[in-house]
Amino acid sequence: MNYRIALLKGDGIGPEITESAVAVLERIGARFGHHFQFTPYMIGGCAIDAQGEPLPAQTVRGCLESDSVLLGAVGGPKWDDLPGEKRPEKALLGIRSALGLYTNLRPAKLFPALRGASPLRAETVAAGFDLLIVRELTGGIYFGDRGYRTGKYGEEAYDTEAYSVTEIERIGHAAFRAAMQRQKRLVSVDKANVLETSRLWRKTMHRLAESYPEVEYGDLFVDNAAMQLVRNPGQFDVIVTSNMFGDILSDEASQLTGSIGMLASASLGSTTRGMYEPIHGSAPDIAGKDLANPIATVLSAAMMLRYSFGLSAEADCIEQAVNRVLERGIRTADLTGDTGIEPVSCSAMTAAILSEI
Ligand code: IPM
Ligand code: MG
Repeated sequence: MNYRIALLKGDGIGPEITESAVAVLERIGARFGHHFQFTPYMIGGCAIDAQGEPLPAQTVRGCLESDSVLLGAVGGPKWDDLPGEKRPEKALLGIRSALGLYTNLRPAKLFPALRGASPLRAETVAAGFDLLIVRELTGGIYFGDRGYRTGKYGEEAYDTEAYSVTEIERIGHAAFRAAMQRQKRLVSVDKANVLETSRLWRKTMHRLAESYPEVEYGDLFVDNAAMQLVRNPGQFDVIVTSNMFGDILSDEASQLTGSIGMLASASLGSTTRGMYEPIHGSAPDIAGKDLANPIATVLSAAMMLRYSFGLSAEADCIEQAVNRVLERGIRTADLTGDTGIEPVSCSAMTAAILSEI
């Protein structure tokens, strides 16, 4: 089969980590007889520099014409002082929205070899954890009405959160379906004791729960959920939540796995075209130094094979290769902690993964 992949390398470590994922996909293609065709497009700061805008129309078109999209990361200090509408991050929100990718899957799983790298106590992670955060991705406060106005204390800024029943239903169904494929347990996270959007969210989720009687369903307030994640992450199977809460909780969950450099993500809509990206940022401090951990991007490529192309044996092959490399004690700098292990470079980690495929 021939698959067309739009490649959005972005900024900072984006080019290094996407190069790793491309190498891994090419190796998979050679082994399993697929052809992956990569077409690069600009996004974020590099697009601002080259074309004057963070999300050029050509990039959106290129993605729409592709079978799937692989993205590195965007942003950096060079573009931090630009107004909100012109920032690289705006492109990320823009492309998710333009492609209709309202479901964001962020799995946080503890690789047994990395148990010692988790900041949680050994007894808390002794049984491991394997949870999936389903984050609503194209609505809520990140997309709401915003601006400046004069308030009680003079100039003020505001952002607003809005969720329609339709938006809640579609992310809810995605989460219940994900739970049905896993351990059939779903927790919806909101702030229904304070926010009106959360009350609508909760009411809608409860209605959906009636259509999934096999799924054990519960609600948590977001502050409690943040606490439960560090107290006992093993209690969770699938968590569904809004755009902002999911953004925050997924960073928290990632660190429990040892490093944010481990967490992949899949962004999906109502077609098989998805966008796959690590949940971490562009790490400008280590960009271009061959120090980045490529695993989150490599695992994102595995998610692409699984969710967009239905190639689960190939996705398993990548995940098992990563697992074996970690079992061999190979670590990038973000994962060494106080182990005394000599860290390897991004390219050496990639070579190690390739050697296991
Ligand atoms: C993420 C990132 C983005 C987000 C930023 C860079 C806009 O934090 O993918 O989690 O908030 O979605
Ligand atoms: Mg984030």
